[in-house]
Amino acid sequence: MQYRRMPIEIESPEQLGYDRIKYNLAESSCSDVPYRELGIDLGDLVLKYDDHLGHPALRALIASDSGVEPDEVLMTVGAAAALFIIATSLLKPSDHLVVVRPNYATNIETPRAIGCDISYLDLRFEDGWGLSLSRLEALLRPATKLISLTCPHNPTGAVFDEEVLRGAIALAESRGCRLLVDETYRDMTFGTPLPCAAALSPAALSVCSLSKTYGLPGIRLGWLLSRDPGLRETFLAAKEQIFICNSVVDEEIAYQALQKRARWLPQIQQRIAAAFRATRDFIAAQRDFEWVEPRGGVVGFFRLRAEVRERTDVDAFYRILLERYDTLVGAGHWFEQPRHYMRIGYGWPTLAELEQGLKNLSAAARAAEEKD
Ligand SMILES: Cc1ncc(COP(=O)(O)O)c(C=O)c1O
Repeated sequence: MQYRRMPIEIESPEQLGYDRIKYNLAESSCSDVPYRELGIDLGDLVLKYDDHLGHPALRALIASDSGVEPDEVLMTVGAAAALFIIATSLLKPSDHLVVVRPNYATNIETPRAIGCDISYLDLRFEDGWGLSLSRLEALLRPATKLISLTCPHNPTGAVFDEEVLRGAIALAESRGCRLLVDETYRDMTFGTPLPCAAALSPAALSVCSLSKTYGLPGIRLGWLLSRDPGLRETFLAAKEQIFICNSVVDEEIAYQALQKRARWLPQIQQRIAAAFRATRDFIAAQRDFEWVEPRGGVVGFFRLRAEVRERTDVDAFYRILLERYDTLVGAGHWFEQPRHYMRIGYGWPTLAELEQGLKNLSAAARAAEEKD
């Protein structure tokens, strides 16, 4: 493995220092939840090693929502560890895979660290960030081991239709490779979420976590779904070699939190809808930025309009945005895209912070205009 730190992690709000950012539009999750607001009682919890697959009742809850069996759920340390386990279990150096770009950076970086041969399925603003099955198919080779997709998509909030999901599964099945769908934002789909990919085929793997929708990234709890018993054994072996089992504290918090899901989720979705409307209203009322309206998640991928880009010093824009306006967004290079693209996380700040942060974007764009 050739590990390399990624810009998105080096420049993340938590590494920069939350106290340096007043308007934090750089997160991809809903607001972080204080422990005391969860109404959770850890009682007599014994701080032992526990079931290596993960807390049985927690897996049962996840399984019933995902359309798989409890033993087809492997709890992991966030979706991040699930993705790591999949990549390192399935891929050797020089193995070929197809991965969507832009993407959550790790989905690209881990195969790169392994030394894989990567074909990128580059999504385009002009296509509404849509995923084309024919473009995907054209990238497949006889030796392709993995197709790696993310839906709802980070950083654009795009969501493909069930027809595309089923088409990608059919491609993986017919080519004898695996399909990974990173479904970390699934509960934040606007409207009915897609079925979990893993529930539809043993060739498909799903990854999800509690970090984004439930504002619980600090408990580092995610999961991996697979209906392939042989693969599950390999994934469990990987987990046991990396961390044996999850933290029982994290699992108990997750279990008690997920039991309240039916009550919480509508409230969370209402907050997301209000933040989305505020962002959409901002876009409609100005001429500097454009986006493709997201269909899920709490992020959108803005870009400076062509005529504004021509007269803007983009480096100055980011500098002014942070230094003068205390505002952070996810710059394009976090996602291997040009820097006039930027990810706006609208679900994490308060509505007032979001509205001010968006105004600050316009002010910084004005201030970064190059005068002749
Ligand atoms: C698409 C996607 N997958 C996975 C992760 C990792 O999340 P976690 O490990 O906190 O569950 C992220 C975090 O930004 C993400 O955006």
